[in-house]
Amino acid sequence: MFVSVDGKLGSDELARVSPLDHGLLVGDGVFETLRVYDGTPFAWRRHIERLERSAEGLGLHVPDRRLLRERADEVLSANDLADARLRITVTGGPSPLGSERGDTPPTVIVAASPVTPWPPTTMLVTVPWPRNERGAVTGLKTISYAENVRALAYAAERGGGEALFTNTVGDVCEGTGANIFAVLDGTLTTPPEESGCLPGVTRALTLEIAAAAGIPTSVVRIRPEELLGASEVFVTSSTREIQPVDRIDDTPFGAPGPLTERLAEAFSELVRTTPDP
Ligand SMILES: Cc1ncc(COP(=O)(O)O)c(C=O)c1O
Repeated sequence: MFVSVDGKLGSDELARVSPLDHGLLVGDGVFETLRVYDGTPFAWRRHIERLERSAEGLGLHVPDRRLLRERADEVLSANDLADARLRITVTGGPSPLGSERGDTPPTVIVAASPVTPWPPTTMLVTVPWPRNERGAVTGLKTISYAENVRALAYAAERGGGEALFTNTVGDVCEGTGANIFAVLDGTLTTPPEESGCLPGVTRALTLEIAAAAGIPTSVVRIRPEELLGASEVFVTSSTREIQPVDRIDDTPFGAPGPLTERLAEAFSELVRTTPDP
């Protein structure tokens, strides 16, 4: 696999990141995962804007957009990938061994891999740990994903394909790598950013698609018992797109529900017609 590290394109086996990189030592960094369709990273502008917001939140500097795009295109073409998962990672760079960041420039890594298709439906497993909706990095896409690793493994051990996090006040929040939607009394509903969820690019696009189709939407707190009473549930992410949920713990759901199916079709249409919505 070819990767770009600080603008140098080379084999991942030969690429070098310092063992003192602050991303590696303490998880100090931000990232984006984009879906590439037919050679073009989908929703590039929205992802780069979020990368810049996340970086600003951590006080990190991100190279300019044009440069990042050149590196992304370079990596995609070196790996001969038309449909891919593209990842941009920006870390604190080589640093002292503690929480204090060094004064070196950030490390910028661009990598891509083939896409592995998701199952047509998935099961969510509620995990026993809360998302902190009031943390210092809440809402930022930082690389500190050990909690997500743990939660996804917990879900997988119980037959789930994604975890379900509630937050410190017990409201529904999100998954480890996906946002959550429910159809409640005919209204497409998703938790607000104040719930502690990541402001997902696919989440925003789904809300926009629904509104354009005349489907009532609501961004509002959801209690777990309301979620279990929903007529349809699905999760969204750049790689999962709109994935129907067929079960949450012991509660089964018809999947895909009619609204989910309609939105998934509209999302595919958006991908076909509008590469950078
Ligand atoms: C924690 C978390 N929530 C939600 C999402 C979905 O975001 P997006 O639709 O921008 O991919 C992700 C994406 O990986 C994520 O990591």
